[in-house]
Amino acid sequence: MKHYLFPQAAGIDTLELRDAPMPKPGRGQILVKMRAASLNYRDLNVAAGRAARGTLPPNLVPLSDGAGEVVELGPDVTRVKTGDRVAGLFMQNWLGGDMEPYHVDSSRGGAIDGVLAEYVVFDQDGVVHLPAHLSFEEGATLPCAGVTAWNALYAGKSLRSGESVLILGTGGVSIFALQFAHAAGARVIGTSSSDDKLARVKALGASDGINYRQHPEWQEQVQALTNGRGVDHVVEVGGAGTLARSVEAARIGGQVHLIGVLTGGEINPTPILRRNTVLRGIYVGSRQMFQAMNAAIALHGICPVIDRIFDFGQAREAYHHLKGQTHVGKVVIRIA
Ligand SMILES: NC(=O)c1ccc[n+]([C@@H]2O[C@H](COP(=O)([O-])OP(=O)(O)OC[C@H]3O[C@@H](n4cnc5c(N)ncnc54)[C@H](OP(=O)(O)O)[C@@H]3O)[C@@H](O)[C@H]2O)c1
Repeated sequence: MKHYLFPQAAGIDTLELRDAPMPKPGRGQILVKMRAASLNYRDLNVAAGRAARGTLPPNLVPLSDGAGEVVELGPDVTRVKTGDRVAGLFMQNWLGGDMEPYHVDSSRGGAIDGVLAEYVVFDQDGVVHLPAHLSFEEGATLPCAGVTAWNALYAGKSLRSGESVLILGTGGVSIFALQFAHAAGARVIGTSSSDDKLARVKALGASDGINYRQHPEWQEQVQALTNGRGVDHVVEVGGAGTLARSVEAARIGGQVHLIGVLTGGEINPTPILRRNTVLRGIYVGSRQMFQAMNAAIALHGICPVIDRIFDFGQAREAYHHLKGQTHVGKVVIRIA
C-alpha cells in the first residue's frame, strides 16, 4: 500500500509518497481502507514543521481527517463491522467528558500518524459512523473542522433558535458553523476578504456579508446590523489580530469561541471584562460531540461544502490550494 509522509517536515514540497507494508489490526483494532482525506489550516503548520506541542515525529503521515470503509477486524472488535463507513476522530482517545492532556497526544497527523494513506489501522473506539447521506469525500471533512464548529456552538452554552452568530472568513470551520447555525434557525453574519465568497456565504443562508478588506472596522458593521446590540456568538478563527474586534462585535455577555490563530497581535483584556464577554477556548472535540453533530447533520440533511477534490497523486497541489486561501469550505483528497 502507499502513504504520504514528511521525512522531516520543512515545507509542502517535502511531502513524499512512499510504499509501506500493509498494516494489520491487532486486538480491538480495525483496518480501514481510506477513501478520502481533507485538509485543515493546521496541516499547513505541520507541513512547515510547526508542532502544537514539542516537535513533530519524523516520517509523520499527515492529515487528521479522513473517511473510509472497514475492511478487516482484529480480535474482540464489537463496535464496528466489516463494510461500515467510518471517519476517524481527531484525538483518537477523547471519547467524552472534559479534554485531558493525554487526549492531545493522540491527535492524528500531528502527535501520531495521520490518514493520508490507502489503509489505516484505528482502535475500534477511534472512529464514528458516517451519516448515510454523505459521500466519503463529504465524510472526510468532519473530524476537525466540523467537530470544532459544533463544539463552539453546542458543547458550551448552546446556540438557540433566533440567536445570531458571526463567522470570520469562509474557511472550513466557519462554513460548518454557518451551516449548523442556519439549520438551527439562527441568524448568521459572515465576513470575508472577497465579495464573491460573501455571495456564496449568503447563498448558504447568511443574512449579511461584510468585506473585512473594505471595512477594516467590521465590528461596527456588525453592531449596525444588530441595532447596536451585537451578536450572541462569534466563531473566532482569526486569533489575536481579530479578537478585539470580535469582542466588540459580540453583545454584552455574548460568547466568543476562541478557535483560530490566523493572525497575530496583542490582546487588551479590559474590553473583555467591561463587556462581560464569555471567552471559551475550543480544541476540536470529543467523539460524543462528533456523534451529536452527525445526528444533526443526518436530521437536517446537511452536506459539507467542498471547494475542490484532488486525486491521491496530487496531495502537494491540494496543500498549495489550501494555502492560497481562494477556497470556500473544504479541500479534499480522494483516495481511490
Ligand atoms: N482550535 C481548534 O480546535 C481548531 C480547529 C480547526 C481550526 N482551527 C484554526 O482555525 C483557523 C481556521 O482554520 P480552517 O481550517 O477553517 O482554515 P481554512 O479553511 O484554511 O480557512 C482560512 C480562511 O480564513 C479566512 N481568513 C484569513 N485571514 C482572516 C482574517 N484576518 N480575518 C477573517 N478571516 C480570515 C480566509 O477566508 P476569506 O478569504 O473568506 O476571508 C481564509 O480562506 C486556523 O487558525 C486553524 O488553525 C482551530
